[in-house]
Amino acid sequence: MRFTPPYDIDYSQRTPSPDVDELFYQRWSPRSLKKALLPDDVVTTVLDAARWSPSAFNEQPWLFITSSTEDEFNTFLDLLTETNRSWAKDASLLGFIFAKRNHAHNSSPNRLSFFDCGAAWMAMTLQARKFGLYTHGLGGILRDKTYGVLNVPEDIYEVICGFTLGVIDMPEKLEDEFKARESPSPRKSLNEIWKKGQF
Ligand SMILES: Cc1cc2nc3c(=O)[nH]c(=O)nc-3n(C[C@H](O)[C@H](O)[C@H](O)COP(=O)(O)O)c2cc1C
Repeated sequence: MRFTPPYDIDYSQRTPSPDVDELFYQRWSPRSLKKALLPDDVVTTVLDAARWSPSAFNEQPWLFITSSTEDEFNTFLDLLTETNRSWAKDASLLGFIFAKRNHAHNSSPNRLSFFDCGAAWMAMTLQARKFGLYTHGLGGILRDKTYGVLNVPEDIYEVICGFTLGVIDMPEKLEDEFKARESPSPRKSLNEIWKKGQF
């Protein structure tokens, strides 16, 4: 199964080195989404991709909680900031990513858990792209409420962010503020983020 975008996406602001796979530079975070029901096996595959990510001590400190019914979707939507709610309402699925606070092997604070969760999130995202789907990270969430509403023990897990998984739609349907930003964004140059030898 593969969802196809309803328009030609303009990647001209993205200038990857010649052999970078399009899976990477054609990933972006659209806000214009078309409500579509995703088959269970597609959602399972997307989440399962996250499972294969590397993590410190192979502790796999990530926890994904996703909506699976319309009622849950609406409950999850209420955990987003108002701005995010205004466009995320058309996502097919909403989710939250939590990280285990402490190492399993010695109970000390796990300083690498967010890093590991980021890797898992990216694996999930790229698997979603294989289906033509898009994710969008959501830092704008009502953090304090997530634990109670999703029944997650706050002493064990820390919420990182929410996310949408969905099917892309036409930019025109967005409010002006978002419409103007609805395209794959540019990046810093490679030599800004990569130094050989020393800073
Ligand atoms: C952890 C994380 C949190 C984000 N939070 C939000 C958010 O609350 N609202 C939003 O509209 N976009 C959010 N974004 C999307 C970023 O703005 C976007 O990824 C960034 O501008 C790069 O654009 P691209 O993903 O289209 O390449 C978030 C992305 C990540 C990875």
